[in-house]
Amino acid sequence: MTRTPIVVLISGTGSNLAALLTAAGAEDCPYRIVAVIADREASGLDHARAARIPTEMVRLADHEDRAAWDRALAEAVSRHAPELVVLAGFMKLIGPPLLEDYAGRLINTHPALLPSFPGAHGVRDALAHGVKITGASVIEVDPGIDTGRILAQVAVEVREDDTEDTLHERIKAVEQPLLVDVVRRLTAAPEAPRARPRLG
Ligand code: GRF
Repeated sequence: MTRTPIVVLISGTGSNLAALLTAAGAEDCPYRIVAVIADREASGLDHARAARIPTEMVRLADHEDRAAWDRALAEAVSRHAPELVVLAGFMKLIGPPLLEDYAGRLINTHPALLPSFPGAHGVRDALAHGVKITGASVIEVDPGIDTGRILAQVAVEVREDDTEDTLHERIKAVEQPLLVDVVRRLTAAPEAPRARPRLG
């Protein structure tokens, strides 16, 4: 079976990456992870190293300005020729080069029920607002902050004694299978495996 190549971008511990890697071990998995790229020395890179998947680091600090970093990131991704790019806890906005090169083929996961609580502190903001239900969203990436089309969501109940950490852990537990499910769906194209996956 020809598997659809994907690249995963991370900044953090990589639990979503680990879930994608585990799922990629299944015989019927329609995708393979061809590279993992981080914008910092993310501990999640260890998951890729353990699985002998090529890793790259494209740090903002190593570039002259944001535009140069945007170009370097787009080039790093393109070198691996993925059909789909998955942001799994990647904590930077995606600039025009990558957005244009991979229009409609970039997805992101977010730990809140968008359009509520976008941005870097979705869990903290939901807790501070006092919502009783929050969750995770997988979305298409557009130029805004978590404003892209929603592809899938799952709800999580907020408990009275929740802290940001306890709530985020429960969200991650459902976010991981949600992301795997969306990536499997988008990369499963039995008639034309190299065709661009259609989102939605
Ligand atoms: C995830 O909840 C993601 O949605 C958010 O940060 C977390 C990253 O977790 N942006 P990990 O690095 O995949 O463990």
